[in-house]
Amino acid sequence: MSDQLIIFDTTLRDGEQSPGASMTKEEKVRIAKALEKMRVDVIEAGFPIASPGDFDAVHAVASVIKDSTVCGLSRALDKDIERAGEAIKPANSGRIHTFIATSPIHMKMKLRMDPDQVLEQAVKAVKKARQYTDNVEFSPEDAGRSEVDFLCRVLEAVIDAGAGTLNIPDTVGYNVPEQFGGLIRNLREKIPNSDKAVFSVHCHNDLGLAVANSLSAVMNGARQVECTINGLGERAGNASLEEIVMAVKTRKDIFPCNVDHLDTTQIVSTSRLVSGITGFAVQPNKAIVGANAFAHESGIHQDGVLKSRETYEIMRAQDVGWSTNRMVLGKHSGRNAFKTRLKELGVEFASEAELNDAFGRFKDLADKKHEIYDDDLQALVTDANMEAENERIKLVALKVCSETGETPNADVAIMVDDQEHSASSEGGGPVDASFKAIESVVNSGSELLLYSVNNITSGTDSQGEVTVRLKKNGRIVNGQGSDTDIVIASAKAYINALNKVLSDAERAHPQTGDV
Ligand code: KIV
Ligand code: ZN
Repeated sequence: MSDQLIIFDTTLRDGEQSPGASMTKEEKVRIAKALEKMRVDVIEAGFPIASPGDFDAVHAVASVIKDSTVCGLSRALDKDIERAGEAIKPANSGRIHTFIATSPIHMKMKLRMDPDQVLEQAVKAVKKARQYTDNVEFSPEDAGRSEVDFLCRVLEAVIDAGAGTLNIPDTVGYNVPEQFGGLIRNLREKIPNSDKAVFSVHCHNDLGLAVANSLSAVMNGARQVECTINGLGERAGNASLEEIVMAVKTRKDIFPCNVDHLDTTQIVSTSRLVSGITGFAVQPNKAIVGANAFAHESGIHQDGVLKSRETYEIMRAQDVGWSTNRMVLGKHSGRNAFKTRLKELGVEFASEAELNDAFGRFKDLADKKHEIYDDDLQALVTDANMEAENERIKLVALKVCSETGETPNADVAIMVDDQEHSASSEGGGPVDASFKAIESVVNSGSELLLYSVNNITSGTDSQGEVTVRLKKNGRIVNGQGSDTDIVIASAKAYINALNKVLSDAERAHPQTGDV
């Protein structure tokens, strides 16, 4: 029997550090439930000291997740560790992940500490974390650019202090596979008590090598990989969970460990859930979860696959959950079927009123679109479509006129703080005209950074899913909207983003918070 590879998902923590990807507590809980269903081993739910919102989210995830370990991040500081310890308290199995930088540049320029001080603080932090849980992980931040002898000293000392997992981050994505694998091997060989801890890796994708570096580390003895759904994360992102898992599963012949405990059929729906919530669309040619990942265009390939799937496919689409996107409901489906299917998808309604509201939107959609797929249902219940009661701006009506040779025009009616306003505007196209009309009422002064449209399912009656990214006073937010009419979907997405821009409740980005 080969070892089991521990899958540590950090979508809710490092993934959330992507500008604009911040998630509400409810969204984090939904993603955590999907990860638990996939049987991910560890879920890093957030950075509790970063903000009260982040603390609440980690606490909420720790309260509902039963089968996965729930982890909270902390710097190697008493106040961080106390907060993380408090946040994971309700967990069946809770972990504190504490870190301090060990590279010369980080120690000198960022921490302004000498190596002995860093070593002392690392040991102190691990001992402090052990007062809250037996399950403590330590990371020497920027390990990929740290001196190996110093890393060995720190890691030996933190194992003695009680760290059970040593996570080696390539924080800036600087490493390359052979060298990074060699580093892991070297550390395991040189550190006298290395057999007392699990070696983990955490790779960033600045050179597009996060997955390759992680897998090279696995070949050299790492038995935990930190990764995110869709590779979401700081800058170019983190190693993608779906690519790591499917590489190890598909190439059982070469990897010295397995991921047999995971339910890989949950991958596609979880990927959809994360992209829907964060507004970070998945590129069509993305491995495993991209819309084209299992599509064959060329005649030769199609012919080969029809004769024998293995000619051009190394994995089965259904093993990662592609075929589970069944047509589940239609126009005649009842409220109970709707509620039951959403429960199976991990979505529960906070109140009857919320359920009735969503069911009303489902009926409207079913009038326009005969076949309702799981992805349509997921889109119906994204926060963007849930019209939370505390939203200040709501779309009442939109009429656009787009005609060859004429300047497009939009008439919009919106509620702002319970008062109805209407406005008209011209624009370069119907979407541009609608946004201008809305902004002329709201006067948000925000800058549009991104506008993207994806179809949720195939067919011309598919819902369009629109993401709008806005920036105001250095804060970046994403808004989403979906509808069978993409101009309406765009207006919904824009209003969703504006509500976030105007909302005080939205959590501060961990990177810009007061930590
Ligand atoms: O990239 C990094 O170094 C991190 C640490 C906190 C593990 O995210
Ligand atoms: Zn990271």
